[in-house]
Amino acid sequence: MTVLIAGCGDLGTEVGLRLAARGERVVGLRRSAERIPAGIEGVAADLTQPLPPLPPDTDVVVIATAAGDRSEAAYRSAYVESTRNVLDALERDGLHPRRILFVSSTAVYGDFDGGLVTEESPAESAAPTARLIREAEQVLLGRSDRGTVLRLSGIYGPGRTRLIDQVKGGTAVLPAEPQWTNRIHRDDAAAAIVHLVMDVDSPAPVYLGSDELPVDLGEVLLFLAGELGLPHPPRGEATSNRGGARRVDSSLLRSSGFSFTYPTYREGYRAVLAGHGVRHP
Ligand SMILES: NC(=O)c1ccc[n+]([C@@H]2O[C@H](COP(=O)([O-])OP(=O)(O)OC[C@H]3O[C@@H](n4cnc5c(N)ncnc54)[C@H](OP(=O)(O)O)[C@@H]3O)[C@@H](O)[C@H]2O)c1
Repeated sequence: MTVLIAGCGDLGTEVGLRLAARGERVVGLRRSAERIPAGIEGVAADLTQPLPPLPPDTDVVVIATAAGDRSEAAYRSAYVESTRNVLDALERDGLHPRRILFVSSTAVYGDFDGGLVTEESPAESAAPTARLIREAEQVLLGRSDRGTVLRLSGIYGPGRTRLIDQVKGGTAVLPAEPQWTNRIHRDDAAAAIVHLVMDVDSPAPVYLGSDELPVDLGEVLLFLAGELGLPHPPRGEATSNRGGARRVDSSLLRSSGFSFTYPTYREGYRAVLAGHGVRHP
């Protein structure tokens, strides 16, 4: 049986390597296939173009593309067109994988005024890019009864050190008012995908993937400054919450049998600061 990773970048590669370690055959599709490491069979393909024949024993598909920039055109192409095209290619080749998982984002939710967001909450962000991610979800769920959507919050991990860099560089600013943030370590995101496609018999159509502790941004910055032995960042002016004020509740994922290696930002950032893991190119 083969697992196909469509959009085999950092997250897709981590998923693929974990599956390969479990003895699965893994084929990864991306334009620059030479970047795909040993353990995964890399195939050069542009997901917006007609695809080469897919492995006839494809049992699981993971769609983990990301947009190259923040334009609507890039989002439409990376999410909507790629998802549609992968489904077209499966249909063309007469393949009926057991599971097709689309990696989505909690950006599909708008501002919840700091409220709790679950899979049942309306995913009605007004942002055009978020609406395109939602459209891709709907393409999958509308066309396949084997589709699963995993909405991830902000991914951090090896090489994804934006907040650490801000604290180190002296540009971090404590928000004037509490600002909810939600995150997931890259390795937990990969482990959650593996769990949902391999270990859950009848997954729900939608899961939220975010660690167990929505937290104020200021608290994270103060923690990082403490870990790095640096002075507290200054407190700034009131600003709008770039990611939307909400607290992401991932209890459905946990109740499916998943446990986090990094249940909060503390364990996760300690691992990042200790240099554990690599970002896949
Ligand atoms: N960053 C976050 O905080 C965050 C939050 C929530 C959800 N997510 C989701 O997490 C997922 C994975 O992110 P990531 O960090 O692994 O991204 P990444 O490292 O940039 O990987 C994305 C991959 O998609 C491939 N790709 C893009 N367009 C393609 C196309 N037309 N044809 C073939 N391959 C294409 C890219 O490879 P080539 O350029 O070589 O083709 C790249 O390998 C994405 O779905 C993203 O939306 C991210």
